[in-house]
Amino acid sequence: MSVRIAPSVLSADLGRLAEQVARAEAGGADWIHGDVMDGHYVPNLTFGAPLIRALRKLTALPLDVHLMVEHPERYISEYAELGVGVFAFHPDATVHVQRHLAAVREHGMLAGLAFNPSTPLAVLEETVADVDLVLVMSVNPGFGGQGYLPAATEKIRRARALLDRAGSRAALEVDGGITVATIRPAWEAGADTFVAGTAVFGAPDPAAAVEALRRQCATRA
Ligand code: DX5
Ligand code: ZN
Repeated sequence: MSVRIAPSVLSADLGRLAEQVARAEAGGADWIHGDVMDGHYVPNLTFGAPLIRALRKLTALPLDVHLMVEHPERYISEYAELGVGVFAFHPDATVHVQRHLAAVREHGMLAGLAFNPSTPLAVLEETVADVDLVLVMSVNPGFGGQGYLPAATEKIRRARALLDRAGSRAALEVDGGITVATIRPAWEAGADTFVAGTAVFGAPDPAAAVEALRRQCATRA
């Protein structure tokens, strides 16, 4: 199983965004993760389309956008036009989840569903055929720099089993508190895509940090 590293610009120095993204890319980053927060769904406010537009000009890597906003469907067409690759949202932030997943695909983006630590995977049972990416949160969303919640590992295992049972080839992404110490258990549990904010952009050398994360997954135990 191939490993994707998706550095989150939430922890980047936005005044040096071009340089920071270039460093992550030099280290072999696969996707760039953008955390859009509205101050309602999560207790923090970050950025939206203007920063996504800027990112699109800075890198050719796929943009993996994680919407922590109420009614994320309002942004589907705008983000598609901006060239977003992955559009991931939380099922408990809206209604008619299947309709929105289908709309994301119709707009040419990969459709992602994100699960908070307390959100059951039940919605995934009903929508697995419509999902290209499952995002298991290993912190309560809102802020970078939090510690990995160990219960996430078991949830990744359950998500992997559900996807395999359904014959789904969806990516399985884990987000929150990923470091060289926590990435390995998440990978062994079946995750293939790893968001890392602080571990990459809080490091003196983001390129080396991306390489170090990937190295942890190099061989199966
Ligand atoms: C948290 C965000 C994460 C965040 C991860 O709400 O969804 O993507 O940037 O940051 P770290 O890696 O520092 O936990
Ligand atoms: Zn995120």
